[in-house]
Amino acid sequence: MEDAKEEIRARLAVEDVIGQYIELKRAGRNFKGHSPWGTDKTPSFMVSPEKGIWHDFSSNKGGDIFTFVMEMEGCTFREALEKLAQQAGVELRRYSGDDKKQAEHKARLYEALELATKYFQYCLTKNKGVMQYVFYKRNMNKKTVENFRIGYAPQSGNALVNFLTKRGFTKKEMEDAGLLNRFGGDLFKGRMTIPLMDVGGRVIGFTARILNDKDKNSPKYLNTPETLLYNKGRHIFGLSQAKDTIRRSEFVVVVEGNMDVISSHQAGVCQAVATAGTAMTEMHLKSFSRMTNDIRLAYDGDEAGIRAAERAISMASKFGIYLSVIDDYHGCKDADELIQKDPKLWQDAVNSYRPALEWLLEKYETKYDLKTEKGFQEYATEAKRLIEQIDPADTVLREKYERQVAARLGISLDAFRAKKVAKEEKKLKKTNVVKSTTVVSRAEKNLAAIAQCSKVDLGNFEVMKFNKDELSLIFEEQYGKFSILDLQKEANSLIAKASEERLATERKELEEQIRVAEEKGDEAQIEELMKKLSELLRKK
Ligand code: UTP
Ligand code: MN
Repeated sequence: MEDAKEEIRARLAVEDVIGQYIELKRAGRNFKGHSPWGTDKTPSFMVSPEKGIWHDFSSNKGGDIFTFVMEMEGCTFREALEKLAQQAGVELRRYSGDDKKQAEHKARLYEALELATKYFQYCLTKNKGVMQYVFYKRNMNKKTVENFRIGYAPQSGNALVNFLTKRGFTKKEMEDAGLLNRFGGDLFKGRMTIPLMDVGGRVIGFTARILNDKDKNSPKYLNTPETLLYNKGRHIFGLSQAKDTIRRSEFVVVVEGNMDVISSHQAGVCQAVATAGTAMTEMHLKSFSRMTNDIRLAYDGDEAGIRAAERAISMASKFGIYLSVIDDYHGCKDADELIQKDPKLWQDAVNSYRPALEWLLEKYETKYDLKTEKGFQEYATEAKRLIEQIDPADTVLREKYERQVAARLGISLDAFRAKKVAKEEKKLKKTNVVKSTTVVSRAEKNLAAIAQCSKVDLGNFEVMKFNKDELSLIFEEQYGKFSILDLQKEANSLIAKASEERLATERKELEEQIRVAEEKGDEAQIEELMKKLSELLRKK
């Protein structure tokens, strides 16, 4: 494998591989171009032919030809290797033994899930009551039922296990496909089934709904647990059905529930997709940003919806995404309900979207009572924090919102601009904490670059490890002309920033562990974690 990698690297010029995706221009020893992920106004994407690497200063990503293809194609390392091997004319031994076994096992899981889908579809046609629910109560038409492959998991016995056993599948395979409960029987019983599909339309799991809303004993929806095939933080419901429309119309509508997606498509708004719950992750945003930079959130105006939008905004600026909000539900509780009332209302709603920032500021205005000192302070802080998320280069947009908020507060623009806020001082929340392990902060990388390429004193700060060549490129490009004094200053402020970020990460991780412990009801563990958390907070 290493040999093949080196051989490919030797045969392909980095600027040629990248040049297939981005227009590059010579700039001294390097090449420059516009970032494929950012909205840089001046070229911020650098390629070093000598070092065989690239670095994107606007998103702070970098690597070699393999990581570049992975990023651009959204594919695995293996797929990038195969693609580049072909370009380079390098023969790869197809699979090593382990890879082959794994691939075969996965293929079996796909088969089991495909068969389960067909079985559930068949069961639906045999059950009048469920047909009633699907076609009349939920108002789906035949095309929708076929398109989304709606089915029914029978109530009695272990119908699916028996069916798959007869077709030669083992318990282990069913288990790994996420189809069994903890007793080894059918996970889904007496529920309407909705397959979860990957981008290519292959079934990777299910979400299944109870048929009687009065049934308070079981959860409304049961979902496949995470498996080899299904990753909750990555999966986007409806994407296989929506992707062509999204590309063509150049926008995507993110709704809250899977049923909202289904109804939306039936109403002709085929750009609708959903992430599991409202927890949008960086991986989701990244997938979207490959298709369009116009993302419209159709979230609730409630606390959860607001928090989800806040989270999305802070991630969106990194990907050069234009984020907006659809919130005109005419008093209905979700998209599905609105569509049931009148599909036209939903079609109009997706075209009357508003910038997410404007929407959030307005939410803050109603949330805080500006007449009280406390409300005034909190509003000012939240608004400031939000505006800080705007790309500093976008001075026009910044000023627009700064003026708006200052006017609202009845203070001068300068006073508002001068206000300082701590980055993250939010209350302990019990909601999903998004882990952003994929993005390494600019501060960390730049510090590592300074440590490697200069004699600046970083005290007892330990830098993270990165690719050496990438660090030299960063250093040359950003600090080449710095005096040692300026470098020291820069290092000091970066250390402050990185330390703050490290604390925040540690804290997020702790909070996530606490949330898990709370779900389990593990009091002892909660106690211990809370102790750790308060120690951490004292460090600040
Ligand atoms: P909602 O309760 O808003 O459901 O949950 P919904 O989408 O409107 O569903 P209907 O219209 O009552 O059928 C929103 C989303 O949260 C997840 C599901 O993904 C759902 O689409 N959820 C909800 C669960 O995973 N489990 C549950 O028990 C409830
Ligand atoms: Mn609903």
